[in-house]
Amino acid sequence: MKISVDTVKIVEVGPRDGLQNEKVTVPADAKIAFITALGDAGLRTIEAGAFVSPKWVPQMADTDEVYRNIPKDPGVEYPVLVPNMKGLERALDAGVTSIAIFTAASETFNKRNINMSIDESFENYAPVAARAQEHGVRVRGYVSTAFGCPYEGDVAPEKVLEVCARLLDLGCYEVSVGDTIGVGTPMQVQGVTGMLLQVIPARRLAMHFHDTRGTALANTLAALEMGISTFDASAGGLGGCPYAPGASGNLATEDLVYMLDGMAIESGVDLNRLVAASSIIAPYLDHPLPGRYLQACTKGKMKSVVPASSAVQ
Ligand code: HMG
Ligand code: MG
Repeated sequence: MKISVDTVKIVEVGPRDGLQNEKVTVPADAKIAFITALGDAGLRTIEAGAFVSPKWVPQMADTDEVYRNIPKDPGVEYPVLVPNMKGLERALDAGVTSIAIFTAASETFNKRNINMSIDESFENYAPVAARAQEHGVRVRGYVSTAFGCPYEGDVAPEKVLEVCARLLDLGCYEVSVGDTIGVGTPMQVQGVTGMLLQVIPARRLAMHFHDTRGTALANTLAALEMGISTFDASAGGLGGCPYAPGASGNLATEDLVYMLDGMAIESGVDLNRLVAASSIIAPYLDHPLPGRYLQACTKGKMKSVVPASSAVQ
């Protein structure tokens, strides 16, 4: 295995991608305590919520209250999802300094998720991105269904590239390439990533793997081999998308950090503190968190384990 990446940036999406998909209502205070603990664990980018329509995703209806009351750590960025100008206005009112806009590589998913075709989503986002930038707000882009669509099946890598390039043209500093329903496999990841890297530098790409079929960590390794160094993950493996049937949690942040620690790749995240953060949110859910490292710590009643440092890289 040949990996030249020595530092990875983790974008923690648990408080947004995770909690948006939970059936139970998690109180704002618990979300704030969770986000604070994630910052204490060393995460420097924590997606705090979504200014989407509360009719579409009621779990994110309290993002305004949550965002305003996070004790902001000056070293931490707290992006929020914004689907349209109304969302941006709410975000600006709350004092947000970083947003994420989101579209997809497949038409049917996009229609179900934001009620827009791909082209319509770009018409919608162009003024949103421009206005955000006028206010000094950083804009990240997401491309969903990059490795498969729950409605259309296969997605052409060329379409993924086209949508990534259009998001970068709007001024996104980075595009997160999403395996929304967790169908991707490592060779496919390397194929899609290889095509993107012919046009887009690695530093402007992130990978966003859901672990629905257990391939998220293998896919991460495949992307690391290609030189990708930014990964989205959610504490405890919380997550899913309400408009992607069968989508389950994101790659668990603990599992990612455990693997990176074992490969001597720096992430700045303290595993013990991360487990403590997941343990804050776990009691509010109606199911155990699926993250493997977390389960090994809690079910196995063992203290967290530091991976043996690996000489093989
Ligand atoms: P629509 O129904 O077509 O829009 O929804 P509309 O303009 O007709 O608005 C409907 C109602 O919502 C109106 O209220 C609007 O005012 C209100 P009413 O007049 O009926 O009382 N509204 C809003 N309220 C608050 N904030 C807003 C807002 N916008 C409209 N921003 C819309 C279109 C885009 C709004 C809707 O489809 C939506 O909010 N979708 C978001 C869905 C979502 O959050 N999905 C999950 C996130 S994406 C994801 O998880 C994937 C990702 O993780 C990457 C991956 O895994 O691939 C990022
Ligand atoms: Mg997602």
